[in-house]
Amino acid sequence: RVASDWLARLPKTELHLHIEGTLEPELMFALAERNGVALPYADVDALRAAYDFNDLQSFLDLYYAGADVLRTEADFYDLTRAYLLRAHADGVVHVEIFFDPQTHTVRGISFATVLNGIRRALAEGEREFGITYRLILCFLRHLPESDGFATLEDAMPYLAQIDGVGLDSSESGHPPQKFARLFARCKALGLPRVAHAGEEGPPEYVWQALNVLDVSRIDHGVRSLEDPVLVAELARRRTPLTVCPLSNVRLKVYERLEQHPLRQLLQAGLVATVNSDDPAYFGGYVGENWRACAEALDLTRDELLQLARNGITASWMDAADKVRWL
Ligand code: ADE
Ligand code: ZN
Repeated sequence: RVASDWLARLPKTELHLHIEGTLEPELMFALAERNGVALPYADVDALRAAYDFNDLQSFLDLYYAGADVLRTEADFYDLTRAYLLRAHADGVVHVEIFFDPQTHTVRGISFATVLNGIRRALAEGEREFGITYRLILCFLRHLPESDGFATLEDAMPYLAQIDGVGLDSSESGHPPQKFARLFARCKALGLPRVAHAGEEGPPEYVWQALNVLDVSRIDHGVRSLEDPVLVAELARRRTPLTVCPLSNVRLKVYERLEQHPLRQLLQAGLVATVNSDDPAYFGGYVGENWRACAEALDLTRDELLQLARNGITASWMDAADKVRWL
């Protein structure tokens, strides 16, 4: 068993983190009060008790409802600031954060309000803690592709402040193929691309993310293991997978953490990384994901070092920073 202080000091990255998924019940209530929003829960404990999910959709319903308390630039700043304090405490040196603009613009909140609040906290976090960062705009796949194009229009004046695009929300029934034209447009604009695939959806969705959306990373991707040809292709291309172990258990992709295939992914030669997804909802920030996996899977020092190196390699940090951490 590896020492917990050794694990705590390991330089970590977070490459799969939805900023809206870091909204802790306490902050949700505080923002509800500040903004005059009524929540359908008596208190923080009642809200937390509702975090008992059957699948991805049952989580997303609560996640989108909770995001309704986020209204002002200060709200997005406070949300991101609180997350960075947690990340710093966990020894995270670099973060790549997803945000879901459509969740907010549909409620009349401007793209700039969301972006400015998040970026102000990120810039401050880098000055204060040295945490480098990238920001990834995610399109919601349960909405039509035309809605994604409208969101890309909203983003156009701010493209210099957006480091890439992703695809999230309800996976089943919304294959990557649905966003072929939108992602081709993003590629033409020079935006790096990632997509959630193979979380609940089949290996075929991972193939589409690779071959149709031309992504450079797969978010989750755990179901790739069902297709040996796909595993070989991911290994050949060295396409990283941003794996979220506690999320997979909370959303019942795997019944228990002991059954999680993190080690199999490493043994197959894949660039697997450890991430937290929506830590306020899934009961653990990235440090807890590392600790829980080290324990439940009895990971060796070499395996943990490999996961840490994978996080640096898979990230979009500057080459000089990669050299520094590797
Ligand atoms: N949005 C936030 N978390 C997500 C997840 N794990 N999968 C798909 N969409 C998401
Ligand atoms: Zn996710």
